[in-house]
Formats: sequence, structure tokens, C-alpha cells
Amino acid sequence: MPDSLEEGTIVGMTEQIDFLQLRDFAVSTAKRAAELITSRRAELVAGDGIAAHTQTKSSNVDPVTEVDTAAEDFIATTIRTARPGDGIFGEEGSNVDSTSGVTWIVDPIDGTVNFLYGVPDFAVSIGAEYQGRLVAGAVVNVARGRTYAAAAGQGATVTGPDEKPHLLRCGQTSDPALALVATGFGYGSQRRAAQAQLLTKLLLEVRDIRRIGAAALDLCRVAEGTVDAYFEHGINAWDFAAGAIIAREAGAVVHHPGFDKGSAQGELTWAAGADLAPAFEKLLAAHGATGALRG
Ligand code: IPD
Repeated sequence: MPDSLEEGTIVGMTEQIDFLQLRDFAVSTAKRAAELITSRRAELVAGDGIAAHTQTKSSNVDPVTEVDTAAEDFIATTIRTARPGDGIFGEEGSNVDSTSGVTWIVDPIDGTVNFLYGVPDFAVSIGAEYQGRLVAGAVVNVARGRTYAAAAGQGATVTGPDEKPHLLRCGQTSDPALALVATGFGYGSQRRAAQAQLLTKLLLEVRDIRRIGAAALDLCRVAEGTVDAYFEHGINAWDFAAGAIIAREAGAVVHHPGFDKGSAQGELTWAAGADLAPAFEKLLAAHGATGALRG
């Protein structure tokens, strides 16, 4: 990881320049998608409301809005135009095989429920996978205007309206009993029942729990140290891809189930600062949480 940052550019690295290019492409595309989301949201709110432009997916509490679809279309078109050999794997169904070896894993709006209600924690998440590895990613918190980014071996950064770009470092907590832990819940009632049961045990053994509502931002929070750890069963690759490399590059240990397992498999994704990770994993294992939660 680099240890210096100059005028927004990581210095001291000469190798893996392609990963930096992938990161920069992810950042510019995610920022442009965030602008589209902001303006479309304002139009809907000023018109007949977002609810009139919302449908449901896996359950009646799992929303998808016209803005999710428009943002993914924009991102997919941008990728196809600029990088025609790259693959795409998107939450709203954009699927293109890769001939270059790079596949973009895209969540146009992670935290769609927050988007719907105006809770300012929803994000564009664009990760790049190359030969089975996450190598670059960008997560833009749309409402707060903060951009998290990382490239493999190059560290993770955040930049926002009132902050200069700076390197991210995970928190130093090593004791799970003092850890602030983020988590989330699936959209199906059976999965939720199992998640709630697990939570009744874990809540007694950590400092506290946060449910922010966007897995990509949960992982970025691990990266910036505003939570110490994150875990959730049954998230999809588009939820974790970009956030996982951002957390990892900020010094976190990140475990995810791979890119081809979906929500239905109920497998665990978790992240924690390196000092906390061994004890956090033991805590999860002690409660049978390292396996899948069906539902
Ligand atoms: C959801 C969010 C949420 C998590 C869910 C995800 P979506 O993604 O990341 O925090 O708990 O499991 O499905 O539906 O808003 O893209």
C-alpha cells in the first residue's frame, strides 16, 4: 500500500498501472451515474413521486425504481463504448461476457430503500474483476457526494465536497467486545428470521450494531473506520465487489463467497480491520455464522 498522496494521485507506484486506469474509469463512470441519479430523483420527487416509478423484485419489500434501471443502462453503455472487450455483470440484468479478462460488477443504486425514502446513504458501486480477483473499484455515496476508490496494491482513498482526497485506514480495534459492527438483512422473511436470531446473540458480544442500508457503504465504512466490522449473509457480488477491494486496500481482511453465488445461497460476506479479524471470525464461528443462512 502507498503511504503518500499528492494532489489526488497516489505516488511511489509504477507497476499495475492498468489497475489505476480501471480505478479511474470506475470513478468517472460512477460519478457521472451519481449525477444522473441525483437529477432523475429530483425530477421524480417534483413530479408524481418516486413510488409511482417503483416496482418490486424478489419480494414485496425489495424495490427497483426507474432510476436504478436508467443508471445501470448509462453505466453499461459507458463501459461498452469505452471498453468494448470488457464484461459486465449488473444488478438490473446487464450481462456481457468478457473478452479482455476484465468484468465490471455493477450496482447502479446500492441502498435502493434509502434512495426511495431519501435517507442519504445510497451509492453507485462499480468493481472490476480480473482473472478472478477484484482489482479496482469505486463507490459514490450519491447524496453525500463522497467518492471511495481503490486499486489493487495501491491503497484506498476517499474524497468529498469538503475534504481533500486522503488514504483510508481501518480502525485499530482488536477486541470484538469493543467493536461497532455493521450488518444488513435480506428481503425474504425466512432469511430475515435467521438473521434476526443470529443478531440476538451477536448483539450481546459487541459494542453495538449499525444497519445503514447499503452493503457497499458498510464496506467503505470499515475502510474509513466509522465501523470496525461488517457481516451479512446472502448479498450478491454487485453489493460487495467495489466495497470489498476498498476495504481490503484500507487494511481490512475481507471474506466473500465469490462472484457466482447469489443471494439464494445465503453465504457470508464479512470484513474487519486486520487487528480485529481473527477474533471477529472466531466470534462468528462460535455462533455458527460462518456457514450459509438459508432462506
Ligand atoms: C441491499 C443493500 C442492503 C443489504 C441487502 C442488499 P440493494 O442492496 O445493500 O444494505 O442489506 O442485502 O440487497 O437492494 O439496495 O441494491
